[in-house]
Amino acid sequence: MSFEVPAEVETKVDQRITHYPVSKRSAVLPVIHELQHHFGFISEEAVEWIAVKLELEPIKVLEVVTFYPGIRQSAPGKFHIRVCRTLSCAMAGSAELMDALCETANIDRSGTDHHHPIAVSPDGKFSIEFAECLASCGTGPVCLVNDDFHEAVPNAAELLAKYD
Ligand code: FES
Repeated sequence: MSFEVPAEVETKVDQRITHYPVSKRSAVLPVIHELQHHFGFISEEAVEWIAVKLELEPIKVLEVVTFYPGIRQSAPGKFHIRVCRTLSCAMAGSAELMDALCETANIDRSGTDHHHPIAVSPDGKFSIEFAECLASCGTGPVCLVNDDFHEAVPNAAELLAKYD
């Protein structure tokens, strides 16, 4: 399947590039965000497309993609969960929350590592990864489900039941 950026997404990309009149290469991060917003992740094809668009070597784009934990390199599920694992949330039970979410969503995280942090449920409905501080340290454990923020999550099953 060939990689294609829809015209409306490319228009948004072009608009973002206009914010960097001195060097369009400086638009690499906003352009990555625009493509991730549309595709859900940054594929190898997306890296190549961005490189051509910004007249960069693909490795320069890949360096940015691999540097920021918020940029995904594999496809997430319909609902992507990010569980904070930084100190306050860790002390409040983020590891237990992760285990409960995985059990509820039937997600196997055994194949994840630093380079492949995302695990997806067999039905593709949920995906999950650990995240660093999500800026609500007093209300842990906290997680994001897509753009929804959840604090002091008491019950994984109740949380996931909200997503269909
Ligand atoms: S430590 Fe979890 S939100 Fe800051």
